[in-house]
Amino acid sequence: MNIVIVVGTRPEIIKMAPVIKELERRGIEFTFIHTGQHFDYEMSQIFINELGLPKPDESFILENNDPVSQIGEMMIKLERSLERHKGGKHKIMLIQGDTNTMLAAGLTALKLGIKIGHVEAGLRSFDWRMPEEHNRRMIDHVSHYLFAPTEISKRNLLEEHVWGEIFVTGNTVIDAIDIYFNKIRDVEEKVMQQIRFERYALATFHRAENVDNLHILRDFIRILRKSPIPIVFPIHPRTRKRLQEYGLWNEIEEIKHLQITPPQGYFEFLTLMKNSTVIMTDSGGLQEEATHPKIRKPVLVLRNSTERPEAVIHGFAKVVGVNPVVVLTELEKILSNEIKLPEYSPFGDGKASIRITNITLSRLEE
Ligand code: UD1
Ligand code: UDP
Repeated sequence: MNIVIVVGTRPEIIKMAPVIKELERRGIEFTFIHTGQHFDYEMSQIFINELGLPKPDESFILENNDPVSQIGEMMIKLERSLERHKGGKHKIMLIQGDTNTMLAAGLTALKLGIKIGHVEAGLRSFDWRMPEEHNRRMIDHVSHYLFAPTEISKRNLLEEHVWGEIFVTGNTVIDAIDIYFNKIRDVEEKVMQQIRFERYALATFHRAENVDNLHILRDFIRILRKSPIPIVFPIHPRTRKRLQEYGLWNEIEEIKHLQITPPQGYFEFLTLMKNSTVIMTDSGGLQEEATHPKIRKPVLVLRNSTERPEAVIHGFAKVVGVNPVVVLTELEKILSNEIKLPEYSPFGDGKASIRITNITLSRLEE
């Protein structure tokens, strides 16, 4: 089959894993390319290993770090790799989400006449400060098959008059938890032994519009310092780098009720989510994962907007920004009230990858 799958960052590997597994289950061949946008072991290879994914046919080592040159470099390398595999005869490229890797892959496919299937199409934050919002809008407008996770994302696409076919499939992140949740058993004891607190909030923070801004980073540290509950904070490399550049690393390290850890493997991270009391984050994927019936955690979204309104509408998440007074008040509220969360996820039923595979194969046969 002439399918190519492109990944390049942590969330893409996790969210494409169920589709890759479904293709493998059906004995369908595909070319698998990793662009190397994320390159540390714990941001990329660990997920390929843990999730039992095949070794990528191509893995790039990128020379450029800034977005423009990096996107250009990825496009050039993608074109060459596609030529090396299947003699450039791929018919469909499957991409997921809104990173620079996905923009590079989408534009490359467009120029080479390869049809694009966009997994997680139609998300909109309406916040033009975000590079992800630029990327997702452009990708959706060059995609032939738009796999919208929810009715809301479908509506966003209809309002923008995208010309590809739209399918509501659910989000593959729910499939991923269904597939891999049992693996928690293998790591839970070890992971939790290393956590210093009985009861804790799990925090992640890495969005460019947050951590590249000194004032916001300072506010985030204030939130951590004054938190009424201990915090476990698996730190993203971008955030670590910024804290060091801004000379804030000592400040954050001195907070006694804060446990900073390296980025975690997927099973380890699911374990930390499952055992947390509350999640504070600016991550996209975490807002979805927190709604899975096996996780079910309240989320404070440390941003001014979300492209995952379903989590808010269904009572899992609240968009609270990064003002310490507001965030700490909301945190107190969650800790002092009995919170009743739904027992279903608004992001799907765990069959998104089956639907995406069915549609992809049916279009290939046309
Ligand atoms: C990227 C995505 C973001 C996604 C996130 C997932 C874009 C525009 N952003 O953000 O949407 O939520 O991935 O985690 O594509 N770094 C390392 N090691 C790594 C990876 C990154 O040290 O393995 C450092 C590098 O110094 C790099 C910086 O982090 O310059 C930022 O990495 P980049 O991939 O540009 O963006 P992310 O912040 O990871
Ligand atoms: N994740 C992980 N280890 C971590 C932090 C996150 O495995 O230390 C997983 C998490 O379960 C989710 C994905 O990585 O599936 C989210 O990635 P991230 O927050 O970096 O990106 P976003 O979703 O914001 O694009």
